[in-house]
Amino acid sequence: MKIAVVGTGYVGLVTGTCLSEIGHTVTCIDIDQNKINKMREGISPIYEPGLDELMKKNIMENRLFFTTDHNEGFDNKDVIYIAVGTPEKEDGSANLSFVEQVAIDIATHIKKDVIVVTKSTVPVGTNDWIKEVILNNLVNDVKVEIVSNPEFLREGSAIYDSFNGDRIVVGAENEETADIIEEINKPFGIPVFKTDIRSAEMIKYAANAFLATKISFINEISNICEKVGANVEDVANGMGQDNRIGSQFLNAGIGYGGSCFPKDTKALVQIAGNVDYEFELLKGVIRVNQKQQEVLLRKLEQKFDNLKGRKVAVLGLAFKPNTDDMREAASIVITQYLVEKGANVVAYDPVAMENAKQILDSKVVYAASTIDALKEADVVLILTEWNEFKDLDLETFVKYMKQPVIFDGRNCFEPNNVKKHHVEYHSMGRPSINNIQLLSVK
Ligand code: UDX
Repeated sequence: MKIAVVGTGYVGLVTGTCLSEIGHTVTCIDIDQNKINKMREGISPIYEPGLDELMKKNIMENRLFFTTDHNEGFDNKDVIYIAVGTPEKEDGSANLSFVEQVAIDIATHIKKDVIVVTKSTVPVGTNDWIKEVILNNLVNDVKVEIVSNPEFLREGSAIYDSFNGDRIVVGAENEETADIIEEINKPFGIPVFKTDIRSAEMIKYAANAFLATKISFINEISNICEKVGANVEDVANGMGQDNRIGSQFLNAGIGYGGSCFPKDTKALVQIAGNVDYEFELLKGVIRVNQKQQEVLLRKLEQKFDNLKGRKVAVLGLAFKPNTDDMREAASIVITQYLVEKGANVVAYDPVAMENAKQILDSKVVYAASTIDALKEADVVLILTEWNEFKDLDLETFVKYMKQPVIFDGRNCFEPNNVKKHHVEYHSMGRPSINNIQLLSVK
């Protein structure tokens, strides 16, 4: 199949590269010439493990192309994927102006029948509107079919997910079109779930909202665990062993961030509101998440009356490990608070520091390494569970910090291991450990 993918952000670039890897000829289109030049050399503009290698391989094998030229990009294509951004508007709804522009570009350039597949997360009903926009602007007499094919890729494991996903959702106007999209995806070896367009659009929002709900639920349980002296990890394990609940997405922490959950949950509240339905549960999920980002700060306040002039080491800035993405990361709220309180914030993240510099307060100082950040620190906050931090020997905190007081927002360390070291340790939904004095006396 000859495929065009419009938009080389996270979704578009991964989708295009993986479709080329399974044998299709793919042209990725973007308006940013600099980005296109880099991608032609196999350099990805985003950090995603394994992506550069896969791009280079398929470019070499003449299956993956990049262009800013719509004429060239759309020429002779059987299928066009829309993968441009749908950023959040101030009221929480999705901004569809990029999608609309692509629809107009498609209408003005295509010269043969095509299937237009929407990968971008769009409100229910948008694909019908996209078809209308295309038909209203068509220059040539060609047939256009529309398909909703939402993505479920996780940043940091998007390549793995592309080849190992649980299902591929295809929402189409008719069976014939759905069959063609199924055929395109066959080499992935992932079951295809076929449905109508609106249901497919809804599946994406419902799935993300449900996962966000699981996270907010376990975070509230975690807060209660702390008060009643239970351990949230054991609780989550015990719950998750019930197949009806499932063990995934029950990790308590400082809330969900990223490009999807915060945006999509708010958009779904809007979608419901537009049809006069108040999605009360989801509103609660969003509120809980906002509160959860600050839980670590409330704990910190209990320990320190005053943060002014204290060196606070922050380990991890990205919204989750294996990505440089800072969107909606808890580190934004947390470092802002620390700076406002007059703390000297020294942060380290294995890959997100360049992006962080664009976003975080200019008073945040960036360390060259974990140890550099920890040196002479009064306290350390762990905000992202990078393996590099999880693998740290707890003696590192003892050796380098002024006092080894650890606030772990991602439960990186086993309490039984922590107990063997001279540290004060606060984590999420588990009893705190204070061994600084205890062990020193021995
Ligand atoms: C998510 C969905 O998983 C994916 O299907 C969708 O297409 C896009 O949104 P992503 O945002 O890349 O993917 O990351 P994910 O691994 O789902 O984590 C999202 C956030 O939830 C992170 O901030 C993570 O730290 C948090 N999280 C996740 C938890 O706090 N606890 C968990 O148990 C799982």
